[in-house]
Amino acid sequence: MNAVVYLSYTGNSRKVASYAARKLSFPCLDLHETKERDFEHLLFIAPVHAERLPDEAISFLKEVKAEEMIIVATYGRMNHGNAIFEVQKKFHLPLVGAAYFPTRHSYLKDDLYEAPYGRLDDLGNAFGKGRYIIVPESEDTFGRGLFPKLRARFAVHIEVNKDCAHCGACNKACPFGAIVDGKIDNHKCIRCLACAKVCPSGAIDFTLAKTLARYLAKPKRENVLVYVGSDE
Ligand SMILES: Cc1cc2nc3c(=O)[nH]c(=O)nc-3n(C[C@H](O)[C@H](O)[C@H](O)COP(=O)(O)O)c2cc1C
Ligand code: SF4
Ligand code: SF4
Repeated sequence: MNAVVYLSYTGNSRKVASYAARKLSFPCLDLHETKERDFEHLLFIAPVHAERLPDEAISFLKEVKAEEMIIVATYGRMNHGNAIFEVQKKFHLPLVGAAYFPTRHSYLKDDLYEAPYGRLDDLGNAFGKGRYIIVPESEDTFGRGLFPKLRARFAVHIEVNKDCAHCGACNKACPFGAIVDGKIDNHKCIRCLACAKVCPSGAIDFTLAKTLARYLAKPKRENVLVYVGSDE
């Protein structure tokens, strides 16, 4: 089958996936809800976490089979690192296209950036031509990929306030079983903020450590980097 499959914690990759699925007339599948692992044409969309793809995306790419694949990595305009390069190298993915796509940053509460969805309109044309590509390695940054979960745990403080109505929505939204009725297990939590996104009472607060807040205040990159095969 052909499909757009997405992994999304705070909704950005899901929006990109819906847009792309409409353009391609492909079904749009949430990675958390599909067991399908066999595709003809697969467009996979996932966020960049600590300059790499999250473990759930990596596990999916390890087992999925596709004749042709396009990967879009959404990133919060800071640094996409080598998120796609790394998985292609590791799993020899049959890529005919790829993109690093700028979005709102999950950790910036007042980020009103409008993602340039139209820039992805031609990406799907890469399917069906058999022109496989190699995504180039980009510049390395110091400390990339080092203990991402530990760094997130210290840089993002998350807690549930008195407005919690014990509705259980956060339990269902957390892919890691890291929150139960408003109590967070810090060892399991990766600070993806899926729980805060769904909480109907606005009861999940998060604050950023000064170093992370300073880093996120820096000028943003808004490059859409698209890779497709050429005719030559
Ligand atoms: C744990 C975590 C780590 C992140 N790391 C990066 C990063 O290294 N570079 C970046 O530009 N954005 C980073 N972001 C921002 C996300 O990549 C961006 O907001 C993405 O679109 C979120 O996708 P989603 O809403 O589909 O989950 C990070 C977000 C989270 C939650
Ligand atoms: S979703 Fe919000 S209100 Fe519901 S249990 Fe979780 S923290 Fe409490
Ligand atoms: S508890 Fe942690 S891992 Fe679970 S959804 Fe919330 S931020 Fe993500």
